[in-house]
Amino acid sequence: MRQGDIVIISGNAHPKLARDICEYVGVELGDAHCGRFPDGEIDVKVNSDVRGADCFVVQPTCAPVNENLMELLILVDCLKRASARRITVVIPYFGYARQDRKDEGRVPITAKLVANLLERAGAHRVLTVDLHAAQIQGFFDVPVDHLYASPVLAGYFRQKRIPDLVVASPDIGGSKMAWGYSKRLDAYFAMVEKRRVSPQHTEVQFVIGDVRGKNVLLVDDMISTGGSIVEAARALKEKGAEKIYICATHGVLAGNAVEKLRKAPVEQVVITDTVPVEDKPLPDNFHVASVAPLLGEAIRRIHHHESISSLFREKSVALRAHV
Ligand code: R5P
Repeated sequence: MRQGDIVIISGNAHPKLARDICEYVGVELGDAHCGRFPDGEIDVKVNSDVRGADCFVVQPTCAPVNENLMELLILVDCLKRASARRITVVIPYFGYARQDRKDEGRVPITAKLVANLLERAGAHRVLTVDLHAAQIQGFFDVPVDHLYASPVLAGYFRQKRIPDLVVASPDIGGSKMAWGYSKRLDAYFAMVEKRRVSPQHTEVQFVIGDVRGKNVLLVDDMISTGGSIVEAARALKEKGAEKIYICATHGVLAGNAVEKLRKAPVEQVVITDTVPVEDKPLPDNFHVASVAPLLGEAIRRIHHHESISSLFREKSVALRAHV
């Protein structure tokens, strides 16, 4: 290995995505063992030479979130002690992001705790996709490159050429994201007003915008229990929407989310591979679009000190380059 070369390492969270990123970048996946001691403690050994290397650790902090987070912290510590020149944590799905503020007494700000842990372990940079709240970038004192999956997801829907399209947000919080999609797709915009009555349940209050007789694309950052998006789809259907499509960056798909979506009045569900779904049997109307080229291109640009924001200026992004 030459001084300063790229080394991409994966924990156990999503090795397939790490391999796909490596294919884009044009490097072999770094050799790292991430096993368990008999008592369940995490046993890490990086076999690749990383002295002086520009290291990227790919590990979404999805379920099992505590295992994946701890593996990531230990991998970073390991690389630091092996004299890596720079360590970038590539966290396509940043877990614990929903606890990002004290909105009532005696609750933690877990997103900030995770940021502290990653920095303390030795991370020099963070590369992530569609944070639940963009301000989590400010929880870090190291640079955060915050990518949007919109070039991938909106690109998929643009080539479908759906007529009379309205892009809708399932809640007020997601309206900026959905509005961005409506601009990328030259579509009208609508919004569902949702109230969360418990972590598992939401209630729709009303729909803003004209969806009668229109095809609707519902856009969200994640589908966890599926409650928000399915309620929104039903509300839009009641307001006279024709076909309803769903797209979300993170297919967390907790509990019986897939079953809920299967029964929902929905034409197609499109998610990305920020969270692994290979082991989940998905219905035929699901499509998984890969963010590997997007992350690979960002890694290439970080390595060469090139602009990341310019990746998102155009309505479509041409991704295909090697280091
Ligand atoms: C809400 O703020 C988020 O953007 C998502 O709508 C929400 O986290 C999805 O959760 P669930 O699928 O459990 O309703």
